[in-house]
Amino acid sequence: MQDRSTSMGETSPMFAILGGTSLPASIDITNLVLKILRIIASKLRNTPLHPQWFAFFREERSLKRTCATLSGVVLDVGCAEAHPRRFLPEGVRYIGLDYFITAKDWYGTRPDVFADARALPLPDDSVDHALLLDVLEHISNPDKCIAELSRVLKVNGSLTIQVPFLYPVHDAPLDFHRWTRHGLEAVAERNGFEIEEAIAIGHPLETAALNANIALSKTVINWIRQFNPLALSVFVLPFAVVVINCSAWFFALLGRSDDLMPYSYRTVWTKI
Ligand SMILES: C[S@@+](CC[C@H](N)C(=O)[O-])C[C@H]1O[C@@H](n2cnc3c(N)ncnc32)[C@H](O)[C@@H]1O
Repeated sequence: MQDRSTSMGETSPMFAILGGTSLPASIDITNLVLKILRIIASKLRNTPLHPQWFAFFREERSLKRTCATLSGVVLDVGCAEAHPRRFLPEGVRYIGLDYFITAKDWYGTRPDVFADARALPLPDDSVDHALLLDVLEHISNPDKCIAELSRVLKVNGSLTIQVPFLYPVHDAPLDFHRWTRHGLEAVAERNGFEIEEAIAIGHPLETAALNANIALSKTVINWIRQFNPLALSVFVLPFAVVVINCSAWFFALLGRSDDLMPYSYRTVWTKI
């Protein structure tokens, strides 16, 4: 299994892409350059110089909003670094659960509980709110996971799901699905949930910018790995990224919102 661990504590799919190296040990210089790039990228995370700027600032904002409304027992399935924990109100009992193999070997994180989302080690009707953020696409039989969440949630408990839509393959080979809004509705219906909210995240221009930035960054990373002279374009990359991000942001502001091609969906369901 490839090493997906991310030394600077990033767990986004992009860092899985950046971190997914299988370099021969002798290519130390390549490792060093990629490590430096990852550290710089982590510092630029909240700026338009970051290839994934759109995804990061939107996700953090909506995570804060979601967490502020939660109470009781909150189960975060596939929690990685347990980002939601710091946004939860006082008095909430947070349980971060993650899959042993991926959490330990790829993300290098330590959840409160190691378990598989398809077999939750919790009693029926014991959880008030569950979070499944950028996890469902990594589960080969997602209905099993949603059925388990339905089992452990109390009636009227909520399940917040975030899944990528137009977004590159990440954490391969454990990347199995992409859903549309309608596909998510069908999953909810099959498993005894009512949809409270469904948001498509990303104006088409923002989605195009995000994916263009990832494609550019990945191409430069490949050149670095291959010792290709074109790797020197790494110095131009930040300028390209900032121009792409800022122009997409500006023209998306001028255009109408449009859910034709979001990079992600966020939806809140209630157990009925
Ligand atoms: C892209 S990360 C998302 C992490 C975190 N939820 C976030 O939003 O930052 C995917 C997560 O799903 C977890 N995962 C993958 N397969 C799983 C499974 N079968 N059961 C539980 N978690 C799983 C991984 O370990 C990882 O933490």
